Amino acid sequence: MCGIIGIVAKIGNVAPDLVKGLKYLEYRGYDSAGVATVEDGVIHVKKDKGMVDDIEKRMGLSSLPGSIGVAHTRWATHGAPDQVNAHPHTDCENKIAVVHNGIINNFNDIKQRLIKAGHIFKSLTDTEVVPHLIEENMKSGLDFKSAVFEAVKELDGSFALGIVSVYEPDTLICVKKESPLILGVGKDAMYCASDVSSLVPFTKKVVVLDDGELAVLTPTSYEIYRLPDFSRKDKTPIKIDLKVEDAFKSGYPHYMLKEIYEQPTALSYTIRLQEHYLNLMADLLDRSKEIYIVAAGTSYHAGLIGSYLLSKMARLVAIPVIASEFITSYGDTVSVESTILAISQSGETYDVLKAIEYAKSRAATILGITNVLASTLTRVSRVYIHQQSGPEIGVAATKTFTGQLAVLYQLALIAGKRRGKLSQRELDDLKEAIHDIPRVVEETLKKTDPLMKKLAEKYCKSKFFMFLGRGLSYPVALEGRLKLLEISYIPALAYPAGESKHGPISLIEEGVPVIFIAPRDETRKYVLSNIEEMKARGATIITLGEEGDKELMELSDDFIGLPPVNPYLAPIPYVVPLQLFAYHTAVLLGRDPDRPRNLAKSVTVL
Ligand code: M6R
Repeated sequence: MCGIIGIVAKIGNVAPDLVKGLKYLEYRGYDSAGVATVEDGVIHVKKDKGMVDDIEKRMGLSSLPGSIGVAHTRWATHGAPDQVNAHPHTDCENKIAVVHNGIINNFNDIKQRLIKAGHIFKSLTDTEVVPHLIEENMKSGLDFKSAVFEAVKELDGSFALGIVSVYEPDTLICVKKESPLILGVGKDAMYCASDVSSLVPFTKKVVVLDDGELAVLTPTSYEIYRLPDFSRKDKTPIKIDLKVEDAFKSGYPHYMLKEIYEQPTALSYTIRLQEHYLNLMADLLDRSKEIYIVAAGTSYHAGLIGSYLLSKMARLVAIPVIASEFITSYGDTVSVESTILAISQSGETYDVLKAIEYAKSRAATILGITNVLASTLTRVSRVYIHQQSGPEIGVAATKTFTGQLAVLYQLALIAGKRRGKLSQRELDDLKEAIHDIPRVVEETLKKTDPLMKKLAEKYCKSKFFMFLGRGLSYPVALEGRLKLLEISYIPALAYPAGESKHGPISLIEEGVPVIFIAPRDETRKYVLSNIEEMKARGATIITLGEEGDKELMELSDDFIGLPPVNPYLAPIPYVVPLQLFAYHTAVLLGRDPDRPRNLAKSVTVL
């Protein structure tokens, strides 16, 4: 769960561009960062604990000389997040430098063998075995390229590697196995990086590497080889359509706020999905004996809503499962008749990919919903849908959540139509409601943001929050709670409102804030009773409901009114004030909402 980038150029120093690229990759981890370049037979390395901008100010990463180099931003797995463990790592002689994203499972065996052979290790990382192994292979007479090939054969695990050396100062070698890696083809320069957005400032021509591929880059060429026999493979670059400004903050103080505000626009893209792919997916869902929706974190919350929608609109049973629990809980029931609908904004979440790998080995059909083109999920899915929410940099998922929901609504609608479970009237109403959703979200943002800021000021010192909802509003409660706790670090609980009396109610005492999600739907009348139960025990009641809902207003200490919306669609606007509440609370408490502690945007480890 790190970000890597490498550049080999015909002329000029590459360090400034490496640093620029690193900034786009910080969402993948920001424990430490570093750059290595090659010039005049010397590897130059600068690296430290902390974030790219700070290290740049302190050490001047971009002042390193040389027209070839690699760089890294780290989310620590092996070894503390300090300077010694920061990448790039080098061999004993400082002739080879390596950056790595992923985990090398058998590093300890290799390390012990190399230590016996006289190698001296500086860090506690798994990565450091790679430069030493290449060094060892070169000692036995192999040239740089062959030494890398032989080293890679020995590595077990998931990795994306970028490797440079003084031996071939115009050759950058990169390898992909399970961790993402994309090549960029520029004019008189070649690139490799963990994602497409970090390449956008330099080139729009990319080559997506598949698992088990290794690329040898020079300023004007790229050669791709396949493991384990290193047979040559030809791949033509594809053109990507991303703008540089898409990945910047556009004047907002934080990416998270910018991304919350981008939701109306992002949704307007997502609701224009090509029907062809939705039809294909709906068809495959229809033909399955059982359907599992597999996802993690926020994407799992979207999956819960998707399961509800498929049941209500298409009468299809789809079991939502947290990805890391899937193999243990349902593995034995997966067969050629099963379909896995995997939801992952990054398309790289390890738990999701492992569940898919397992399901594939049992011949199940894989469908994917993701926000990252060329991510692993897009490559392992029989059919995938790119939700087109635009790059999301803030660690907390916001616009990608509502985007996932917009995909799921369209999918459930098409499945319902194909299966004849929706009347023409219902179909027309739902279609209209989906098309109106960007406007509803726009209005929700305008109406609720100032109020959510005030409520954050009022409640930010609370020690605990409870979020309650029924039906479709239960996953919204879960998502509101996840947003708040992950970026403000305030403990919180979310429950189906009807279940709260079976235990969580014992946590209620005078003044505990309980947030109810109560749109005008079939569950509202029961929620009113749950509000009474909490009120009777002294809770402070905060409710989200339809504007003008007098009954709710009378029961509430604070009421947030939202524009009227079709009850099926309510989760999209109703999550928005909760995102804003989490954001303002975190900022008031002095937290960085874009980079919450211990978290990374893309969780590519077990
Ligand atoms: O990229 P994915 O959608 O697969 O990510 C899943 C979770 O890691 C992610 O939703 C995480 O929970 C976020 N921090 C939520 O804001």
